[in-house]
Amino acid sequence: MESDTNDSPPGECPDGHGAPSEEPVLRVIYSSISRLYGPVLAEMRRIRDQASRHNGPDGIRVALLHKSGYFVQWAEGPPVAVERLLERVTTDTRHHGLRVLHRSLGRRRLFMPWIGAIVQSDEVPAVMAARIRRMTQALNDDRLGKEPAQVWAWLCAPPQPDMPRPGGAGLRVMLLSARGRHSFDLLRWVAEHYRRPIVSRRFAAAADDVPDVASDYLDLPHDDMPGGLRLVAHARHSLTMGVAHAFLPDHRAVVIRLDDDIERNRQLLGRLIGVCEQVQHRLPILGLGHPHSGQDVLAAQARAMGHEWMDVTVPPGLASEADHWACLSSALRQLGASRTG
Ligand SMILES: Cc1cc2nc3c(=O)[nH]c(=O)nc-3n(C[C@H](O)[C@H](O)[C@H](O)COP(=O)(O)O)c2cc1C
Repeated sequence: MESDTNDSPPGECPDGHGAPSEEPVLRVIYSSISRLYGPVLAEMRRIRDQASRHNGPDGIRVALLHKSGYFVQWAEGPPVAVERLLERVTTDTRHHGLRVLHRSLGRRRLFMPWIGAIVQSDEVPAVMAARIRRMTQALNDDRLGKEPAQVWAWLCAPPQPDMPRPGGAGLRVMLLSARGRHSFDLLRWVAEHYRRPIVSRRFAAAADDVPDVASDYLDLPHDDMPGGLRLVAHARHSLTMGVAHAFLPDHRAVVIRLDDDIERNRQLLGRLIGVCEQVQHRLPILGLGHPHSGQDVLAAQARAMGHEWMDVTVPPGLASEADHWACLSSALRQLGASRTG
């Protein structure tokens, strides 16, 4: 089960490989049709064990997703090593129909030898196949950016069909909480309130003794937010296992649901800033909580590292998810308006 108590120090790369090098790497994303039937977790773990033997020494990092009868793999590393990996993987009988969708040279975005993700969904393989076809077309027409994370998100976490900007990101916001699972609780409340589906993903760690982490998201086609809003709840532990490293730069802001314990808030913010430093990314950080949660100290900590800090104060005595959402949604509207206007 997911643990959210692991508070390993910020500032270290999750796999202990030190600071990322500036050397450009080859980034490749391919899709393939899975031959795994029934539960996939055990086979994903076998692939992980094989990958861990080769990827680390070869300087390769991958994220592998299994969804709707397809694999999608995002691999990065020295060009020769990535080409060798592709050759090896192509002949693997656990899948077929491998199709390279994206290939670019650029900055490393993955910081773990292996991240495995499983999305349980009712979507049938034909829908995934159609999405891959549309994506190939969009890539050919240059309608998609050159960053692998965008390609991955489009394919693996597509927006709900009623979102105002199909294929577009809208306002994408990450939710973290300094204690417990309050980010997931808030997301669940919002989903029930607006009757929106939640998509649940499970990211498997690179070793058996490291707990998996969950991440849930939902899309809100709000009229007052151009492009709509995607809220993504992450476990705190995703900051130490590399998941946040890959996806953080695609978020427009991070919301930290603050705790009464100021030290916990400081620790979480420190870990978040550590990840931002590693991926060289700055973004607005919103502190959602009651007054006296250490907002002054947190604002100084964030601003000292070049991040915008916004206090989203929930008045004393108001503690429900509805109260938190009322305060947060108005702050997000402001944020959306300030980014577009
Ligand atoms: C979808 C998929 C993804 C894979 N990803 C990797 C990988 O990232 N690294 C790797 O070494 N092997 C990966 N493999 C396994 C390789 O195809 C191959 O079985 C393995 O590298 C052989 O390792 P071994 O010679 O140590 O047994 C993957 C297999 C599949 C089906």
